Amino acid sequence: MSNDTHILLVYYSLTGHTEYVAKLIARAVGCEIERIEPLIPYKHSKELVRRRLRVEPKPEIRILTHDITHYGTIILGMPVWDNDLPGPVITFLEKVDWRGIRVHPFFATGGLYISVYARLKARCKGAAFTAPLYLIYDSDNELVGIKE
Ligand SMILES: Cc1cc2nc3c(=O)[nH]c(=O)nc-3n(C[C@H](O)[C@H](O)[C@H](O)COP(=O)(O)O)c2cc1C
Repeated sequence: MSNDTHILLVYYSLTGHTEYVAKLIARAVGCEIERIEPLIPYKHSKELVRRRLRVEPKPEIRILTHDITHYGTIILGMPVWDNDLPGPVITFLEKVDWRGIRVHPFFATGGLYISVYARLKARCKGAAFTAPLYLIYDSDNELVGIKE
């Protein structure tokens, strides 16, 4: 049985932006934290990531150490990849029965994120969402804004 008072932060991060904020949030909330990890890590190159996604849109991920069904609230952080969800996050989302779970999403982005929230919601059937938070980074990896 999921429990509303049990909170887990789940995140994926390639270049560290999401991870940094995820750790701050988990510390502030006092919740547990789980990182989504593809079995084969991605190279830090947009072109190489895109090339791999074309042949492997849903990569295998490491088995999670937390049992998601135990948590009523998931704080979910990820980067935006081509206006969509990163492949490893899609793999994760498909492993979970989202009915009855409350999701607090946040995204690390370069500023182009118009569809990503709708795409996330479409993949979490039955979840209740709070409005997303977008962390905007510039090309020098500086956090230049937070948008709701
Ligand atoms: C393959 C790939 C595609 C990306 N596509 C987008 C995009 O569509 N819109 C956007 O704003 N940023 C895009 N980005 C930039 C990342 O979302 C941004 O750098 C984010 O802060 C990275 O978070 P991370 O450090 O947690 O991985 C893309 C990055 C990669 C690697």
